Amino acid sequence: DAPRRIQQTSLVDLNTRAMHYYREQLKASPRAIDYLKRRGLSGQIAARFGLGYAPDNWHPLAECFSDYATNAQLNEVGLVIDHADSGRRYDRFRDRVVFPIMDGKSQVIGFGGRIIDQGEPKYLNSPETPLFQKGLELYGLPQARQAIRASNRVLVVEGYMDVVALAQLGVEYSVATLGTACTPEHVKKLMRLADQVVFSFDGDKAGRRAAWRALENSLALANDGKTLSFLFLPQEHDPDSYIREFGKDAFETLIEREALGLVAFMCRELASQVDLDSDEGKAKLMHLAKPLVEQIKAPALGILLRKKLAEMAGMDGGEAAQLLG
Ligand code: GTP
Ligand code: MN
Ligand code: MN
Ligand code: MN
Ligand code: MN
Repeated sequence: DAPRRIQQTSLVDLNTRAMHYYREQLKASPRAIDYLKRRGLSGQIAARFGLGYAPDNWHPLAECFSDYATNAQLNEVGLVIDHADSGRRYDRFRDRVVFPIMDGKSQVIGFGGRIIDQGEPKYLNSPETPLFQKGLELYGLPQARQAIRASNRVLVVEGYMDVVALAQLGVEYSVATLGTACTPEHVKKLMRLADQVVFSFDGDKAGRRAAWRALENSLALANDGKTLSFLFLPQEHDPDSYIREFGKDAFETLIEREALGLVAFMCRELASQVDLDSDEGKAKLMHLAKPLVEQIKAPALGILLRKKLAEMAGMDGGEAAQLLG
């Protein structure tokens, strides 16, 4: 018999049950509670995000799912790993703090699990299921929605912990991409949520690469009525560490003063790749810019970008237009 695919509503139901189970386990684990406290999180914020704890045991979920779900179903939703060849079967999340991932309708579609203190892998996520597609979902959206609407701003960060720590300190309009690059689908969703989209990835190399990917995926979607900007944190920081060290006001001041618009970010990045003191460097600037400029459909942004590139390359507008189209 072919395994019967269960309904998506049942998948949500399994995840919801698991979330409640993990919540209960957190209350019973002083070690996990202590970890969250050391990261500056209150019980109230843990409850708001449904944070829980997956016990250090191979089969803890059996307890909450006895007589309720088959192993095939638990495997399909990614809560249980089932090795058909060896017959071994065990819970995916063990001895981890778990972050339920909800879609825009507050349905639990997956989990992220962080190891307590040190260990590998640091984070473990639910696999992609019919319900959970990482390239589409924004972690923290249901909790952030009201603040996004009120501020007309959405802040995009890399990590679960960034979202939760920002909310703890009063910046409630943030969401995270789930360990994947920010996809065009993410950008579309973000632009529907607010007029100002601010990307703030980690200050490290991976974060800077992620910002560039976000820019590339934003070019075709940029719109003269919206602001897309990029906040670069000091090298050693991510939004979580920054706001805990310097506070909410400092973080928001940084957004106001330091975030670079799309044109400014692109020009700065391209300039860093060439030597603008040489003709060859200026030529290379235009060469690198051309495929990016071609994607921009926002008329005013396109004009401003061409103008800036022309200035950088020491050309007049007509010459630059000839090159860039
Ligand atoms: P903390 O160390 O708890 O502050 O987490 P972080 O969010 O700062 O982690 P980091 O900047 O290293 O990674 C950002 C995001 O990438 C995480 O929130 C995860 O979604 C994802 N990520 C990080 N490490 C891993 C990993 O080992 N495996 C997987 N699958 N994803 C990871
Ligand atoms: Mn195997
Ligand atoms: Mn990082
Ligand atoms: Mn980080
Ligand atoms: Mn961090």
